[in-house]
Order: sequence, then structure tokens, then C-alpha cells
Amino acid sequence: MLQVEIIVGSVLGATEYVADAIAAVCPEIGLIANVHFSPNLADINLDAPWIVCSSTHGAGDLPDNIHAFHKQLQDSTLANPFLVVGLGDSSYDTYCQGAQTLYDTLLRTGANALQVPYLVDVLHHPIPEDVVVAWITPYLTALAANEA
Ligand SMILES: Cc1cc2nc3c(=O)[nH]c(=O)nc-3n(C[C@H](O)[C@H](O)[C@H](O)COP(=O)(O)O)c2cc1C
Repeated sequence: MLQVEIIVGSVLGATEYVADAIAAVCPEIGLIANVHFSPNLADINLDAPWIVCSSTHGAGDLPDNIHAFHKQLQDSTLANPFLVVGLGDSSYDTYCQGAQTLYDTLLRTGANALQVPYLVDVLHHPIPEDVVVAWITPYLTALAANEA
């Protein structure tokens, strides 16, 4: 079965729920999910599809737990497929800037974006995992079908 690496940037836990919800649907689709709540490049399969889920804090900053990983990415060359999911609050000028930063860095590594970032405004979606799972399921299904 194809493995997918789910990489999480979160301060308050909402994005962790999103990652857990994505991981929960993976076995139904025929995928094995590895969730990384304290991501470190050394622990992550560089050839697997990545799903990077991150909130934004401060004034457009990445969550602390994903800073070191983001720095590692800046020195990396990749070619694997990836998706980015962002949680943010549209009352900030820097709406979902953290997810956009991760997406831009991943593009610079050479990794292959399957889609532009999927941004969830928590002002309008109090249960972000519901819309994220609905959005991501077709991509996961396609990844599993390509592997079969
Ligand atoms: C102190 C603080 C700063 C924030 N800054 C931003 C921001 O710059 N841009 C944004 O889109 N959302 C911002 N948010 C909203 C969070 O990204 C949002 O609440 C998100 O759901 C938190 O996810 P988490 O629990 O996984 O950290 C901020 C929230 C807090 C509490």
C-alpha cells in the first residue's frame, strides 16, 4: 500500500484535528498515513506524497513546531507530489500566510504540487476537518489508483 506523509504545523491543535481526520480516511482509500506532529525531514519518506497542513500565527508566521522543518526544506531538493492545506482567520491581513510560505518553499525544492493550497477560513468553517476531508478525498483516491 502507498504511504502518505502528513506533516503538521499547529499551535492550538485545530490543524492536528485536520491531520487526524485525513489520516482516518486513508485506510478506507487504501493508503497508509504517517502523521508528523513534530516534523523532522530525517523521519519522513522523501519519495512519498506529502500532505502539509499548517495554521498561521503571529503576523503571518509559521507555527513554532514546523519552523525547523521549514528550514530543512529550504536546503532540500525534492521531486515527490504534495498538497498543502492551510487554516487561518480572514480577519488577519496575513490570512493563511504560513501555508503559502510552506507551499512556496516546497515549489522551490522541485516537489510537484498537485494543486494550489486549500485554505480554510476558520471564521466560516468552525469544523475545518469536514471541508478538508471532502476536498482532499479525490486527490487521495487518485494517488491510490495510480499506485494500484
Ligand atoms: C495569536 C494568533 C495569531 C494569528 N495570526 C494569524 C495570521 O496571521 N493569519 C491567519 O490567517 N490566521 C491567524 N491566526 C488564526 C489561526 O491560524 C487559526 O485560529 C487556526 O485555526 C489555528 O490553528 P491551530 O490550532 O492548528 O494552530 C492567528 C491566531 C492567533 C491566536
